[in-house]
Amino acid sequence: MIRNQWYVVLESGEVGSQPVGVTRLGEKMVFWRDEQGRVCAAVDRCPHRGVALSTGAIHASHLQCPFHGFEYDSTGRCVLVPANGRTGVIPNALRLQTYPTHEDHGLVWLWWGSPVPARLTPPEFFDNIDGTFTYGSTRDPWDAHYSRVIENQLDVVHLPFVHRKTIGRGNRTLVDGPVVEWKGDKMLYTYVFNRLDDGSPPRKPSELSPKAAASVHLEFIFPNLWQNYISDNVRILAAFVPVDAEHTLLYLRFYQNFMRLPLLGKWIARLAMPMNLRIAHEDRRVVTTQQPKASGLKIGEILIQGDLPIIEYRRKRAALQNQASPQP
Ligand code: FES
Ligand SMILES: [Fe+2]
Repeated sequence: MIRNQWYVVLESGEVGSQPVGVTRLGEKMVFWRDEQGRVCAAVDRCPHRGVALSTGAIHASHLQCPFHGFEYDSTGRCVLVPANGRTGVIPNALRLQTYPTHEDHGLVWLWWGSPVPARLTPPEFFDNIDGTFTYGSTRDPWDAHYSRVIENQLDVVHLPFVHRKTIGRGNRTLVDGPVVEWKGDKMLYTYVFNRLDDGSPPRKPSELSPKAAASVHLEFIFPNLWQNYISDNVRILAAFVPVDAEHTLLYLRFYQNFMRLPLLGKWIARLAMPMNLRIAHEDRRVVTTQQPKASGLKIGEILIQGDLPIIEYRRKRAALQNQASPQP
């Protein structure tokens, strides 16, 4: 995982009036909402004697441990030790490690790293998905490292094989391009043309018309958010949520804005989910077998022109990792 990044970790609806415990980025975490409804996140371990705070409750807007009733505020400060009395002394060391969070677009981001900058800029989202869109969503667990799941969604070579019976029908095995560009510092942008093999060599990225860039393409925002820009009105969005080194939760959404009536729009978006899940499972079957589990720059794979988006992903990931913890 790359430190010092905003990761999508949950959907808003998963954090309600009770604390929730989940594993994200290899750590057990507890999420809850404070009195203003803001999402809070902390290490899911009471500093008193190690109980999971996610099994506790919200009491007077504080997170209350179920074991001895110690209470913590949204900054992680212990505000009550019942055994010491309401006016009793609270040891300074009784402090929960918290994480910065951000909520928008029905998603919860968590900033994972250290030290936390005094001024954190909020995470990026796709500015071409606005309030006119409605979406349906689902989650899907994969026994794979999140980097492999991401690379699969940047893999433009696999379609006629993995998705032979669905989106890869037609045997268009030859890969022209792909073109890979950066939109700002965090967003990778790529498009490709797959065609029947007529014996001609694949076109180089520089031979593709820039006009094509306006049509179907992929956008990926580091470290874990992706969309397939199918048209101005239809998108597939995915967040690749790292659970631990071998497990990823895929948060999948189907966005549309051709139907503007909200209820009908939601219904259409929901109807699209089973098909999206079927396609994801075609991918999952293959990706979960990849060795080594995690991707990297030097893992001995022999890549081809069609793998350009994956190469670019690996380069940037390594650069960000190096930035967060420089190698001597
Ligand atoms: S373990 Fe949490 S209050 Fe004692
Ligand atoms: Fe796929």
